[in-house]
Amino acid sequence: MEAFDLDAWVARSGALDVSDLDWDGVAKHPLAPEAARVLRYMQDIESHTIVYVRQLLATRAIDDPEVATFLACWFHEETFHGLALDRFLAAAGHPLPPRPRPRSALNLAARLEEAATAVVSRAWPDFVALHMTWGAINELTTLTGYRRLAAVARHPVLSELLARIIRDESRHFFFYYKQAERRLAKPGVARVTRFLVERFWAPVGTGVQPADEVRFLAATLLGGAEGQAAARKVDDTIRRLPGMAGLPLLCAWVERNVPAAVASGQPCAPVQHSPA
Ligand SMILES: [Fe+2]
Ligand SMILES: [Fe+2]
Repeated sequence: MEAFDLDAWVARSGALDVSDLDWDGVAKHPLAPEAARVLRYMQDIESHTIVYVRQLLATRAIDDPEVATFLACWFHEETFHGLALDRFLAAAGHPLPPRPRPRSALNLAARLEEAATAVVSRAWPDFVALHMTWGAINELTTLTGYRRLAAVARHPVLSELLARIIRDESRHFFFYYKQAERRLAKPGVARVTRFLVERFWAPVGTGVQPADEVRFLAATLLGGAEGQAAARKVDDTIRRLPGMAGLPLLCAWVERNVPAAVASGQPCAPVQHSPA
């Protein structure tokens, strides 16, 4: 992976341009109900980015100038993903109902997580390593989910829209991954990060979306042979970070939470523990 250049990264940042997308063509192609259901979930997550930003403003993350610059661009871009998916759903005949303000949409578990994040950040000087690792996992999971949705939905306008969003998510992933790689180089930091990820990580939207919706999304996008292969690829990439070899992650989560979606003969690769 190439070295990271923040100025070059920022220069490529900007609002997603969908002005030339074939919006009139959206309704000409069928959109399967399960694809619309998955899209509603993803739209909700994209438009909830402000909740994660509020969470992060209470942590050490904003004390790091590189991370603070990134987060400003990241929030800007994610907001436009939410708007574009909202527009697509309306054009496809599945308009979203107005939703409550973000704060009231948070359940108790999510509010506790918000408080816990601030506490961990205060107590642990290397908190940003955890944040960057967590972000890398979530961006990679998200872009993998979008790729799988394009393959499952087979809707030409949606595929084009998702391809553009995926380009942004890849740049987000790249930033988080490069940061994580550097910060996890200290073995003690990698050990604590691994401990926390292994115990607390769950797919984006857990605690915000109903559990049934999280399982439906995982079964639709990560079930079966192709879905499992995509999940394994996420795990393999994250396991290349310092101290993360053999980390049980997305594949293990799917096996645990939606066992019916795991194709027979396609189990996750056995977890190999290596000294962190
Ligand atoms: Fe996004
Ligand atoms: Fe993203």
